[in-house]
Amino acid sequence: MSGLFITLEGPEGAGKSTNRDYLAARLRDAGMDVQLTREPGGTPLAERIRELLLAPSDEPMAVDTELLLMFAARAQHIDQVIRPALARGAVVVCDRFTDATYAYQGGGRGISVSRIAELEAFVQGSLRPDLTLVFDLPVDVGLARAAARGRLDRFEQEARSFFDAVRQAYLARAATDPQRYEIIDASLPLAKVQAHLQAELPRWLERARG
Ligand code: TMP
Repeated sequence: MSGLFITLEGPEGAGKSTNRDYLAARLRDAGMDVQLTREPGGTPLAERIRELLLAPSDEPMAVDTELLLMFAARAQHIDQVIRPALARGAVVVCDRFTDATYAYQGGGRGISVSRIAELEAFVQGSLRPDLTLVFDLPVDVGLARAAARGRLDRFEQEARSFFDAVRQAYLARAATDPQRYEIIDASLPLAKVQAHLQAELPRWLERARG
C-alpha cells in the first residue's frame, strides 16, 4: 500500500470533526488525494452498525456485543474504503479508529488489551495508522461541549468516570509510541489548535512516511 493512513482520536467534545475537516482541506490544498472518513461508519452498511451502537436503548448492550460491532463495522470499512484508498495512493483521514476501541471498550468498559489486540490482528492484519493525532482536553470541558450540542448518544450518556478512563487510556497509548502519536491540546481556542496543526503538519507527514 502506498498511501498514508492518518487517524484522529480523542474524547467527546475535543473538536475532532472540525479539525478533521481543516486537516483534509490543508492536505487537499497541498495537492493530495484525500479520503475523509469516520468510524464507526464510513460505508452505508457500517453506518447502519453505527446507528445500532449509538442509539440509546432499553435493552442494555453487552460489552462484547459492543466490541464485536465496532470490529464488524471496521472490517466493512477497511474492505470497502480504507484499503482501496490506500492502494490508489490516497491520504486516508479517519475520524477515530482502533485506538478508540482501546480507549472506550478497553479503558472505559474494562475489556482486556489482549482481547482487543486479537481482534485487531484478525480484522486488520498488519494495517495500522501511520499517524494518530490525539485531541486531548479535560473531561469536564469535553462533556460540557458535547452536552451543548444537544441530545446525548449512548456513549455520551456514560458517567464521568468512564470518560476519565477513556482519556487515560488514550494518553497511555500515545506515550508508548511517540513516532506515531501526536497529542494536541484541544482545550486551546480553535484558531490556536489549527495554527499548530498547520505549522506542524509537514513535519508529521515526513515522519509518518518514515
Ligand atoms: P463520534 O461521535 O466521535 O464519531 O464517535 C462515536 C462514538 O463511538 C464515540 O462516543 C466513541 C465511540 N467509539 C467506541 O467506543 N469505540 C470505537 O472503536 C470507535 C471507533 C468509536
